[in-house]
Amino acid sequence: MTPPLPPPLPPPLGAPYRIAFVCLGNICRSPMAHVVMARLVDDAGLASRVEVDSCGTGPWHVGEAMDVRAAAHLQAEGYDASAHRGQQWDDSWAGRDLVLAMDAANLAEVSPDGETDRVRLFRTFDPVVRAGEPVPDVPDPYYGGDQGFADVLAMVERTCIRLVAGLDALELR
Ligand code: 4NP
Repeated sequence: MTPPLPPPLPPPLGAPYRIAFVCLGNICRSPMAHVVMARLVDDAGLASRVEVDSCGTGPWHVGEAMDVRAAAHLQAEGYDASAHRGQQWDDSWAGRDLVLAMDAANLAEVSPDGETDRVRLFRTFDPVVRAGEPVPDVPDPYYGGDQGFADVLAMVERTCIRLVAGLDALELR
């Protein structure tokens, strides 16, 4: 079963339902999730009701395109990575309906109290992670090889499919 997503924030917020993915540099993991999720949201006919975005907790890649390895893996699977430009987290991002941190360090940066209803670890929604087990990180592929990016893409695709199921259950208007 998909863990429930938090309901939309009350008006004037919450419409569209806004989801932000957060990692460290905003050039690998969170932009991969952003691009995959935007495509799945579009495919589900939810593009006018759900807004997807991403940022990093660090400042180094603000304004930059995605890491070329991340972009190549996305392109090989038919996604368009070209629009991405790096952004950095600030407190305004905390007003999203749902913030998904890619790892525990990212979570600690954006939510010192840990997971809340609206700030969750991304892999809370990974179908291979069993309910009640500790939620693993999306491993940072930046300093590693090609396999790390393939692993992240697989993780991101299966998890975003489940997130869209969670959005369907919210019956957004
Ligand atoms: P990301 O990977 O957090 O998945 O975007 C990283 C990208 C850049 C750096 C670290 C992690 N960096 O130190 O520049």
